[in-house]
Amino acid sequence: MAVVPTDIEDAPGALRPHAEEAFAHELKALAAADDRPRPYGWNLSPWAVALYLLGGTVPGGGTVITPKYVGPRRIVEVAVTTLATDRALLLLGVPGTAKTWVSEHLAAAVSGDSTLLVQGTAGTPEEAIRYGWNYAELLTNGPSRRALVAGPVMRAMAEGRIARVEELTRIPADVQDSLITILSEKTLPIPELGSETQAVRGFNLIATANDRDRGVNELSSALRRRFNTVVLPLPASAEDEIDIVTRRVDQLGRGLDLPAVPEGADEIRRVVTVFRELRGGVTADGRTKVKSPSGTLSTAEAISVVTNGLALAAHFGDGVLRAGDIAAGILGAVVRDPAADRVIWQEYLETVVREREGWKDFYRACREASA
Ligand SMILES: Nc1ncnc2c1ncn2[C@@H]1O[C@H](COP(=O)(O)OP(=O)(O)OP(=O)(O)O)[C@@H](O)[C@H]1O
Ligand SMILES: [Mg+2]
Repeated sequence: MAVVPTDIEDAPGALRPHAEEAFAHELKALAAADDRPRPYGWNLSPWAVALYLLGGTVPGGGTVITPKYVGPRRIVEVAVTTLATDRALLLLGVPGTAKTWVSEHLAAAVSGDSTLLVQGTAGTPEEAIRYGWNYAELLTNGPSRRALVAGPVMRAMAEGRIARVEELTRIPADVQDSLITILSEKTLPIPELGSETQAVRGFNLIATANDRDRGVNELSSALRRRFNTVVLPLPASAEDEIDIVTRRVDQLGRGLDLPAVPEGADEIRRVVTVFRELRGGVTADGRTKVKSPSGTLSTAEAISVVTNGLALAAHFGDGVLRAGDIAAGILGAVVRDPAADRVIWQEYLETVVREREGWKDFYRACREASA
């Protein structure tokens, strides 16, 4: 009989280990070398947290820290510093700008635990942020601490760790507002028990929100004032974006036993170039205007197009990533609206891709994919 692990944590070979597990050796090396003052309850100093995010070499030991976030150093410094103050951190940006990714790594570096997470949706109830009840216990013995089931934020408060709230603006306004007392008074009242849970030092909260969701559930100004907002930009240059895609594809690929991506692989450059040009509405040389399709064409989507391409090459090709392996993925990412986007894509193919030197194979593959 198959044994189903009763505790998810017991499952062997997690498909996606948490940041604190995947980068445990880096966090350990940083903690050992870090002699700067640590805010109360923090595993690392703010300086070491920033080094963990931005990458570099651990002084003394020489352990190499891989960059998690590629972008302006100042953004990371402001984000880390905010967590050491009494204000919470709001990461804002268009889709695929690494808001979730940065929030996970910050929580892992500061608290050694990125799992105290509330996923915001239109249906997120107040219990998800505060607490719920174990009804069997509640009915048998009445309300007590034992019957209370703490939510992730409540646990973070009690343990002095970082809590994460994903997609804050998708949460209904009245539920969002239950965060106000938590963030300003640093306490969570439990009226049923005539009691409260007070936040222990080390507690703070990171929320993420999508620019495009603006207006879905606008943050109330009372709540917004409790946050320092840090806007994560799109990668500044094509080189940065290629770097991000290459690194992440390499990591994902290793987890999936896919072949390695050769340094400076042409196909990655092509995917990134196409995405940047369509997103920006102009070719890289600034000469030709192009129309932008309705999809977001984010870095995150470029990563998935290349990963899928690698899987195609591994399972149905000779293991080398070629134009044909990424053409279908690009088409799927670009053409979201079958009518309007298809016209935009065809026009881009004929006016830009066709003429570009060294892109013949890519042009042909894309034409075949769209046929
Ligand atoms: N500047 C960057 N540095 C490093 N990785 C990046 C960067 N931008 C995007 N990524 C990569 O993009 C992927 C997707 O990012 P993530 O899911 O965090 O985006 P998001 O901003 O939360 O998007 P959404 O708004 O859709 O939730 C991550 O795997 C991350 O590695
Ligand atoms: Mg996200």
